[in-house]
Amino acid sequence: MKENITVIAGGSGGIGRSVVRKFLRKGDRVIVIDINKITDESIVEEHNYSFIKADITNPEDIMTAKKKIEKKYKKIDNLISMAGVNMKSEIGGMETITIEDIDKSIKLNLNSHIYLIKIFLGLLRKEEVVKNIVMISSINAISNYGLPAYSGAKAGLYGFMKAITGELGSQGIRINTISLGTVPHSTDVIDGNEYFESKRGKLPLKEFVKPTDVADAIYSLVYRMKAIVGQNIVLDMGQSL
Ligand SMILES: NC(=O)c1ccc[n+]([C@@H]2O[C@H](COP(=O)([O-])OP(=O)(O)OC[C@H]3O[C@@H](n4cnc5c(N)ncnc54)[C@H](O)[C@@H]3O)[C@@H](O)[C@H]2O)c1
Repeated sequence: MKENITVIAGGSGGIGRSVVRKFLRKGDRVIVIDINKITDESIVEEHNYSFIKADITNPEDIMTAKKKIEKKYKKIDNLISMAGVNMKSEIGGMETITIEDIDKSIKLNLNSHIYLIKIFLGLLRKEEVVKNIVMISSINAISNYGLPAYSGAKAGLYGFMKAITGELGSQGIRINTISLGTVPHSTDVIDGNEYFESKRGKLPLKEFVKPTDVADAIYSLVYRMKAIVGQNIVLDMGQSL
């Protein structure tokens, strides 16, 4: 049986590692593109895992990664674009955000996704089955949680997705976004932490989204929910209600 190839940009992060694990265990070949390596042995020792170091805010790095993948595998089946982080200086809003951090945030949280899709498009075109792109956004894009540049960039992902859904569809590619609420990377960081405890108390089920929930959602979206096209799925345990 043909091995599906899933590229996960930002796959070394706290949520990314769960997504990588899910796709590996389901039998995909997973190629992580990230500036940082995964150190977790349960992942790096898997025969179907590979890593390419790249700064995805730099199109030349993405081009080099694409060439390596093309040489070895020719085509890919899924692109999960999930690198992203807010800048420290934007935590205090417009008062504190620096011009340098505005540029950095937009470059990572919006531009890098557009670069990745532009550069990887040729590897994703349909042969016998439809190919998939999932971009990870945030509920910062749909409500008021501060972080001006990060939120603007995450909202920009929707506009970008809507603009290209038809063009990509005609090439046999489905694209969707998932907007995450707060996803603590482990239960250890929640218990006894005032910030997380108070946030958790306001959630309808008093439970945060877990990294494994994100992995399940992305996997289902890619392999099961095939009629969802050009949509933003909110995965936030009711946080944005
Ligand atoms: N954790 C949350 O509460 C939360 C909430 C909403 C949305 N999100 C989104 O989910 C995604 C994953 O978040 P996370 O919590 O795993 O974050 P994380 O910081 O743990 O992981 C981000 C990953 O992106 C990589 N990365 C950063 N800059 C890069 C660059 N220039 N080139 C290549 N790789 C780069 C990092 O090395 C890291 O592996 C992000 O897009 C984030 O905005 C997270």
